[in-house]
Amino acid sequence: MAANKNTYKVLFACSELTPWIKTGGLADVCGSLPHALHRAGSDVRVVLPGYDSVLRQIESPIFISQLDLPLGPVALCRTTLKDIDVLLVTHPCFSNRTGNPYMSDDDRAWADNPFRFALFSQAIDEIAVNQARLDWQPDIVHCNDWQTGLAPALLTLRAQRPATVFTVHNLAYQGNIMQNAYETLKLPTELFHDNGLEFWGQASYIKGGLAYADRVNTVSAGYADEIKTEQFGCGMDGLLRSRSDRVSGILNGIDMDDWNPETDTHLAANFSFNTINLKAVNKEELQKAMGLPIDPDVPVFGVISRLAEQKGIDVIIEAIASLREDYFQLAVLGSGETHLQVQLLTLEKELPQKVAVRIGFSEPFSRLVEAGADVFLMPSRYEPCGLNQMYSLRYGTLPMVTNVGGLADTVFDSDSDAGKANGFVIQGATGPHLESGMRRAIAAFTDKPAWRNLQKNGMTQNFSWDASAQSYLALYQAAIDDVQTLGKQLQPQ
Ligand code: ADP
Ligand code: GLC
Repeated sequence: MAANKNTYKVLFACSELTPWIKTGGLADVCGSLPHALHRAGSDVRVVLPGYDSVLRQIESPIFISQLDLPLGPVALCRTTLKDIDVLLVTHPCFSNRTGNPYMSDDDRAWADNPFRFALFSQAIDEIAVNQARLDWQPDIVHCNDWQTGLAPALLTLRAQRPATVFTVHNLAYQGNIMQNAYETLKLPTELFHDNGLEFWGQASYIKGGLAYADRVNTVSAGYADEIKTEQFGCGMDGLLRSRSDRVSGILNGIDMDDWNPETDTHLAANFSFNTINLKAVNKEELQKAMGLPIDPDVPVFGVISRLAEQKGIDVIIEAIASLREDYFQLAVLGSGETHLQVQLLTLEKELPQKVAVRIGFSEPFSRLVEAGADVFLMPSRYEPCGLNQMYSLRYGTLPMVTNVGGLADTVFDSDSDAGKANGFVIQGATGPHLESGMRRAIAAFTDKPAWRNLQKNGMTQNFSWDASAQSYLALYQAAIDDVQTLGKQLQPQ
């Protein structure tokens, strides 16, 4: 694609941001795409809730202004992250909690999430129309996931507004609230109707983005097609089909500097494809750290995951139960649903020589799993994009994935074209599919030249943001054109 010479002022709104606050891939995308847009010449400012844990990591945030929002006053502060400005919306509702931005430690959604993310969206809306004493009018407001979904809807109530883009990272998380909660928050009644925020009698924050943003995109071409079907549409497929000329897919990139086995400081030994033998040092370190028998020849399957229905953790547990006698090891790092934690720990107890589980969220340890494993398991039921399969490819760890969403767009089975094959694709998120996939990998692991070829194909792939950043710039232009056309239509003749 030819480089887009246009540059834009972009207000990029998100609820997590690597390296400050992360529950999953959303943080990594929001921590890397804005930098790629900046490198391409745009003026990007990120807006994020000013969580306590984030403020603690920042030296001296600069107070900009108090925003008097319909839901109450917030303080807007500013800091920088590498080369871009980050605006922090601070309010007591974003402080003083253990757990993550959305859930308590015991895995329950914070009861005031509807308030918190309505407040955040009201702040985005105010900044978007240059009412925040920044003397800065964005051309584009780029919102991400349900936590920011109300902002594109609120902006349609403004006489003059910037264009809006809404990116769906995961359609299953919708931010739906009861109608009376919507009324209690005194959110605009004119947005509550079936072509607006109303969703089966509830109000849906994500629908604000899906129905009102000028352009909607998701994080892979495959998932953009899937969400228009009943199977993957989470009840929104009708709306998405009706707006299909406004819905597209742009594959996520990754931060190629951050996720680089040659420089990653968390590894026991750095390596590249030319020094791939050093990967074994990481494997040994992983086995040691996990209390598994040290054995260079056994194929090690790695998992780093939110423990959630989406990720097929139950599928892994089912497959392992049938592979008890086989020659392999499994190393799992995960946090999330309690019943999955319990089942994984039970499996570890039953098969201590084969299965090791660490419950928790640890960025450093995740790097060692990426580098030390031979195969990375991602039997997801759906996967909007998935970053771990790309990180794995970069670390010479062959991904084993289901053929859905972004996984199908990035992983090519060992049986396909030898110049392209980089992992293993299974045809369904079921125990038997994964079991036979894992048997296939265990057998393939003994054929070192063929294995090296798969690793080489993955390790030499380019997953940088450059191409996708250009696609976002084109999407911004399309959204701006839409708003201009709309403006002309609304002008009195
Ligand atoms: P999702 O966003 O659906 O969870 P992705 O594959 O896009 O899936 O991204 C997941 C990101 O979160 C990756 O960077 C992965 O390494 C990280 N991650 C998930 N679980 C953990 C964990 N328990 N500890 C450390 N990192 C984790
Ligand atoms: C979501 C999706 C994941 C995607 C990530 C970043 O969390 O589940 O597939 O990679 O967002 O876009």
